[in-house]
Amino acid sequence: MLNIKDQDLLKRFSYINGSWHSSETSFDVINPATNEKVVSVSNAGISETELAVAAAKNALKAWSAKSANERAQLMRNWFNLMMEHQDDLGRILTLEQGKPLAEAKGEIAYGAAFIEWFAEEGKRVYGDTIPAPSGDKRIIVIKQPVGVVASVTPWNFPNAMISRKAAAALSAGCTFVVRPATQTPLSALAMAELAERAGIPAGVFNVVVGEDSRGMGKVLTEHPDVAKFTFTGSTPVGKSLTSQCASTVKKVSMELGGNAPFIVFADADLDAAVQGALVSKYRNAGQTCVCTNRILVHQDVMAAFTDKFVAAVSELSLGNGLADGVTVGPMISAQAVADVEKLVNASIEMGAQVALGGKVDQAGDCFYQPTILTGVTNDMPIAANEIFGPVSPLISFSSEEEAIAIANDTEYGLAAYFYSRDIGTIWRVAEGLEYGMVGINEGIISNAAAPFGGVKASGNGREGSKYGLDDYLEIKYLCMGGLNK
Ligand code: SIN
Repeated sequence: MLNIKDQDLLKRFSYINGSWHSSETSFDVINPATNEKVVSVSNAGISETELAVAAAKNALKAWSAKSANERAQLMRNWFNLMMEHQDDLGRILTLEQGKPLAEAKGEIAYGAAFIEWFAEEGKRVYGDTIPAPSGDKRIIVIKQPVGVVASVTPWNFPNAMISRKAAAALSAGCTFVVRPATQTPLSALAMAELAERAGIPAGVFNVVVGEDSRGMGKVLTEHPDVAKFTFTGSTPVGKSLTSQCASTVKKVSMELGGNAPFIVFADADLDAAVQGALVSKYRNAGQTCVCTNRILVHQDVMAAFTDKFVAAVSELSLGNGLADGVTVGPMISAQAVADVEKLVNASIEMGAQVALGGKVDQAGDCFYQPTILTGVTNDMPIAANEIFGPVSPLISFSSEEEAIAIANDTEYGLAAYFYSRDIGTIWRVAEGLEYGMVGINEGIISNAAAPFGGVKASGNGREGSKYGLDDYLEIKYLCMGGLNK
């Protein structure tokens, strides 16, 4: 009925130390497009999480002792299997998360790309030699795996947010435990099944699925055998998990919320800007940390941009992600829709106008219409908060300084975008934006080779790229003395 060709990819148990663990209770995974149960999954808790940490600890010595080449070969197998099963993995992802099938398959390729990329990059963990201050000494720097890595990952990218962390960890020689979001455990478990088929040894990659977020999170952030904790999710949760990690002084990386400005300068190629805003905003129904959150348009081109943008967004097709032609799927839950509705309605009360959409759709209570609001100011709730839904607020500005000031007027600093054809504007604005990532005449910036991460309340650390590996490595300084005859 679910139309998964390889039924063994549909797992219902946690994967710990190379085995599938059932628990006494279970919980349902719900398809947000239909509100129907996909499957029930065994509900792991604190004891299974402790088992997973112990398994990762036991596996660490042998895994870190393998050569980078040996680890790369196993990771390459994992990558190949993910791509071979892209259709099934994409379908599982759409069933539990809702995004359109084409987008879900795109996420599988995006997620797998981290495994391929880090498998290679692990071969380039170079050390250093440093001229010593005296002739009888030598200074050498080596890099070693941090140890056991624990992570908590979100529902919006159920595959890629795991592979982006796990690939870096495994290639560095670390072992890994993940607690995926309870809304989307099936993608994580399918990844575990393929890791096993790829020959990744027991205990190296563990997945614990369970509803006790507090209890399981406490184990992952406070267990003395966990050396590093990494999280993708909201800023409030990230803050509290960071403070939990303090008691054991763990290495921490956090990929948290965003409030991305998308700035359209008067000299921009408006058609390109419309396309950039469209993909950046409506990908994953706006449920992406790097999604455009506010569109700032120069007053001289506001009318032209608005007309073109309304026309382009009107072409989007909202519906069940498994149906042909659908380009925007449901949001993750009716609650998520209600939260967006509240931001929109409060902003309308403050003077924003609806240029398109603005309502919960008749397709169901998880569907919010692709929406455009005009006449928005930065103090309105729809601009001041991370929307995490398919709504574009349009804000007018009159100068470069004003655009930068509005863009930076937020606690967040993850991604920003702008469109201009002037080289002076491009440099000044790129340098003036207080963000970890800036798309210049480009709406999609994520890929395995680039450093993904934010500043300010959007977190710390980087994922992907050569910088992403550093978060999983310790630097060790060796001082060799007594070398004089
Ligand atoms: C995220 O929403 O945090 C991830 C988005 C991406 O990788 O592009």
